[in-house]
Amino acid sequence: MTRTPALVALNVLVLLPIATEPISARAEGPTRVEDLHSFGNFHQIRVKHVALDLTVDFGQKNLRGTATLTLERLPGCPAHAPLVLDTRALSITKVEAGSGSVATKTVPFELGAADKFLGASLTIRLPDEAEQVWISYETSPQASALQWLDPPQTAGGKLPFLFTQSEAIHARSWIPLQDSPSVRMTYGALIHVPAGLRAVMSAVQQPRTGAPGEFMFSMPQPIPSYLIALAVGELAFRPLGPRTGVYAEPSVIDRAAYEFADTERMVVAAEKQFGPYRWDRYDILVLPPSFPFGGMENPKLSFATPTILAGDRSLVSLVSHELAHSWSGNLVTNATWRDFWLNEGFTVYLERRIIEDIYGPDRAAMEAVLGLQELREELEHLDDKEEILHIDLAGRDPDDGMTRVPYEKGALFLTTLERAFGRERVDAFLRSYFDHFAFQSITTADFEQYLQEHLFSLDARAAGNINLHAWLYEPGLPAGFPEPHSERFDSVLHQARQWLEGKVAAENIAATAWSTQEWLHFLRAMPETLTADQMAKLDAAFHLTDHGNSEIVQQWLLLAIRAHYATADARLETFLCSIGRRKYLIPLYTELIKTPEGKARAHSTYTKARPLYHPITVESVDRLLGPT
Ligand code: BES
Ligand code: ZN
Repeated sequence: MTRTPALVALNVLVLLPIATEPISARAEGPTRVEDLHSFGNFHQIRVKHVALDLTVDFGQKNLRGTATLTLERLPGCPAHAPLVLDTRALSITKVEAGSGSVATKTVPFELGAADKFLGASLTIRLPDEAEQVWISYETSPQASALQWLDPPQTAGGKLPFLFTQSEAIHARSWIPLQDSPSVRMTYGALIHVPAGLRAVMSAVQQPRTGAPGEFMFSMPQPIPSYLIALAVGELAFRPLGPRTGVYAEPSVIDRAAYEFADTERMVVAAEKQFGPYRWDRYDILVLPPSFPFGGMENPKLSFATPTILAGDRSLVSLVSHELAHSWSGNLVTNATWRDFWLNEGFTVYLERRIIEDIYGPDRAAMEAVLGLQELREELEHLDDKEEILHIDLAGRDPDDGMTRVPYEKGALFLTTLERAFGRERVDAFLRSYFDHFAFQSITTADFEQYLQEHLFSLDARAAGNINLHAWLYEPGLPAGFPEPHSERFDSVLHQARQWLEGKVAAENIAATAWSTQEWLHFLRAMPETLTADQMAKLDAAFHLTDHGNSEIVQQWLLLAIRAHYATADARLETFLCSIGRRKYLIPLYTELIKTPEGKARAHSTYTKARPLYHPITVESVDRLLGPT
């Protein structure tokens, strides 16, 4: 095989000793992990490092190149065991194997039948001593992890944009690997992009290779595959602090830097409470509006929707959330998607502790009340088995487990621990937990055992008050769960009642000093019976149809659909056609399809908007609306 100088450089990366804690503990760890969502034979052979050399082709809408995997055979692995990887819609052109980084020979491989959720296994017959495999491949234009944006879908409008979203099991649609969160690996990458574009990854950017359009990265800490991330676009960078910064399109960078000004303080607050930040830098990438999520905790570089750029820093709990994943999720990782609550429940708890530290207990309490409200509303529609933290995902797409349950019920569980044992002991427990399991992937059972040994054993009386089994393995909210409360919301509700009862006029509602959270609470308190006339009065007083805050507008549009408030029709149309955030879209379409006229409107709007949405959003909206 001939090597370009760049590839030689990449092999240097492959061979670099990795400066991080050994995680061999995992191999003989407490539980053998059964991951229903991976074909990988990681109990026999484990991928330890991935080196990517990929060309980003906006014309073909694909990535092309090689993934070089460094392997480790685990004790007891049969001599002729093949390597089994995950793929989805990849076209594999050649596989070579060898040891060291030079001698390679072409080896046979086989793609299994494609499963709807899991994709296809890739089985590689390895020579006995092979330590590395080179896989030449290209992705499909429909790769579920990739969104290819045409220039009009960006803020600048002139250049295309690409980003990945690998969680939960989409990494396999752009890299052939063992796509299980129980498998951790380091990675390196050489990315070739067209002129004028910049590549960023969830990794350290290496100094330029010299060639224009080439970007080199390395991730020296072992991470699960769902945290491998890439974005390519016209990107500017602005430092926010000594180890924090923000990337965004040039026309967005000023707003982004303003919005995220408190990021460095957040890192400091998190470190003070939960132990050292172990990822060196913390940067945020603001994506174009089609990004399907609010945020994604790609290590060293969180991805974020531009819909949080409210102009008043009121939606930055998303930053504290993604940052908190640097402890819960990225450092200590759910070993399977059944254990997703270990990532998200801990993170929501940490997120609110950071918010409390920086913005005060009022703000944290308001956000907790809003979160519980969303959970309660969702619980009304969920089956029992979806209400369980340790969720059964057999035969299902793990993306389906993404309800408010792992988030809010998980966070309430940690608040329960805090109430029972006191904040000081719970903080000490959390610090030791993050330290003990650092750079490991753990199951709910591993957590449970550690909890028993390091918290419950300290205080039998406090432990006796907690129904651990109900929290982890039963549906609903256990009796006596800690209900958050906000006095500021009490006064919002008072204002709402006064207005609804006709005791104050809309323009006299004392809302001048309301935060975003208070507005959300007010709007959510509106009854089903609110009329278009009442909507018009609120609109005249507070200009809600033209409001610049995406959360408030989305809540307002829900009411507008319900009340048949035609003045907001155009705003709804632009909102649905310009924002791809699934959390906003699904409730709006769900509300629309409740009436025959609304249904027709939903379908006609979706026909226009669908080509602009991310594959993950398309999948969800398709399922909701049925065939157009
Ligand atoms: N890790 C999640 C996003 C995710 C979860 C992607 C599951 C794919 C599958 C991220 O940290 C997250 O929770 N984002 C939230 C925002 C947060 C403030 C609750 C979101 O995007 O809504
Ligand atoms: Zn999260």
